[in-house]
Amino acid sequence: MGTIQIENVSFKYDQMVDNLFNSLDLKIDESWKLGLIGRNGRGKTTLLKLLMGQLDYTGKVVSNLNFYYYPQTVVNKNVPTIKVVKNLAHLEDYDLWKIEIELDKLQVDPEVLQQEFSTLSPGERTKVLLAILFIDESGFQLIDEPTNHLDIEGRKIVSDYLKSKKGFIVISHDKSFLNPVIDHVISINRADVDVYKGNFDTWQENKERQDQSEMNQKDQLKKDINRLHETAVKRENWSNQSEAQKNKKNYTEKVNLDKGFLGHKSAKMMKKAKTATKRANEAIDEKQSLLKNIEIEEPITLNYEEVKHPNIFVTVDNLQLQHEDIKTPVVNFELKRDQVLAVLGPNGIGKTTIFKQILGLPQPFTQTGDIHLANNLKISYLRQDNELVGNIKQLAIEKKLEPEMVYSNLRKLGFERYLFEQPVENMSQGQRRKVALAISLSEPANLYFWDEPLNYLDVITRQQIIDAIKKQHPTMLLIDHDQDLIDAVATKKIELK
Ligand SMILES: Nc1ncnc2c1ncn2[C@@H]1O[C@H](COP(=O)(O)OP(=O)(O)OP(=O)(O)O)[C@@H](O)[C@H]1O
Ligand SMILES: [Mg+2]
Repeated sequence: MGTIQIENVSFKYDQMVDNLFNSLDLKIDESWKLGLIGRNGRGKTTLLKLLMGQLDYTGKVVSNLNFYYYPQTVVNKNVPTIKVVKNLAHLEDYDLWKIEIELDKLQVDPEVLQQEFSTLSPGERTKVLLAILFIDESGFQLIDEPTNHLDIEGRKIVSDYLKSKKGFIVISHDKSFLNPVIDHVISINRADVDVYKGNFDTWQENKERQDQSEMNQKDQLKKDINRLHETAVKRENWSNQSEAQKNKKNYTEKVNLDKGFLGHKSAKMMKKAKTATKRANEAIDEKQSLLKNIEIEEPITLNYEEVKHPNIFVTVDNLQLQHEDIKTPVVNFELKRDQVLAVLGPNGIGKTTIFKQILGLPQPFTQTGDIHLANNLKISYLRQDNELVGNIKQLAIEKKLEPEMVYSNLRKLGFERYLFEQPVENMSQGQRRKVALAISLSEPANLYFWDEPLNYLDVITRQQIIDAIKKQHPTMLLIDHDQDLIDAVATKKIELK
């Protein structure tokens, strides 16, 4: 059976101080269904790019497999999808049945092949691009976050599809998506990379046990260190006292004491005390290195300014938006103060369009029905796409925010300091999302419009968001396809059909 061997691979991007991967060794079986997990910016996408041979690294990747990467870059989207497929998959007309078989398994109507690629819904695009990856049965697929922007049903279809395949690596932060799909985990931790046999849940249980034992060791260590310190201090006091006594006795000459002995003794005590402190410090260093893989989690807080009036923030009455042959369903709802209203519905139904219309952003839609948005509210809008460019300081200033405040929120979201100076375009997808999120957290707001906040974010940040909303219960309109988030925070839901 074939393997992929990663031997002694080291890599860093030009502007990085430390290596992203340092002498990495991994051995992967070609039949494994691997989930690649780790916090944003740990190097998951980079690892796939290393396997694809797209970056210069030192060390070796040994494999005779063909690698295929999702998402592929579609240079020209304004052509029929069939053309995109033929280009990306190097398919001839007589082999088109191969893509049709895969599309069928993904429950996509083969008619979409005739449709212009740019007009496909996000879910259809994802499925077409995935289908292309699996045309070569003997290939090894490298799939980078397929679930972003997929609705609940789409996630289930893609999950079932991958379950029927083998020999791939899939990156995802979505536990419920990964669990049924994978049989191995590659985890990029704070300090190392490990491969684990099992799914996300079993990996997590194991990780929690490991963390607990590290924590226990830490507690034990703290006690040991305190004891060592106390002893050291006592010794030091004793030796200081002896020294003082020696000098005093020396001075008064009242008692016949062996000054030599006392001097010798206190020097010995001092030395012992120093050795004890040194030993304690060494023990701390050693034990702290054992704690290297524990993830630090700090609560985040929305800069939410609660207002006493009005009671109703938003009223949407028989709203329908239309442009050419696109028509949103007729929508009715009310958003009251302190409510978190989840706007649910499949991809392409018009959720984002409705948000933008309420916010009064320019759109080519003709509106029927009414929207009433209360006056004088401070609104923070977190957009669905990662559209930011520039550096964090510029972005903060554009929003009239203190850069320090945004930095502080980013630190809580696990950002490393050196990234503060980097242009957002050079960051990982999750890091870009965190910049947008940190700006929204920093903005003073009475009302939040959050459009798919969890996309690209790592598991720890997802939990931080859930905890913050639960704790502060801000007034919020929320779109997301993550069931865990909706269940945890929504106080009201409307479903668009
Ligand atoms: N082109 C680039 N130039 C400089 N630094 C980069 C570049 N691409 C990525 N990085 C940095 O390398 C690190 C790893 O990025 P990578 O995209 O591999 O992370 P990731 O684990 O895929 O994260 P995410 O979960 O957010 O997608 C990050 O700190 C990122 O800022
Ligand atoms: Mg990535």
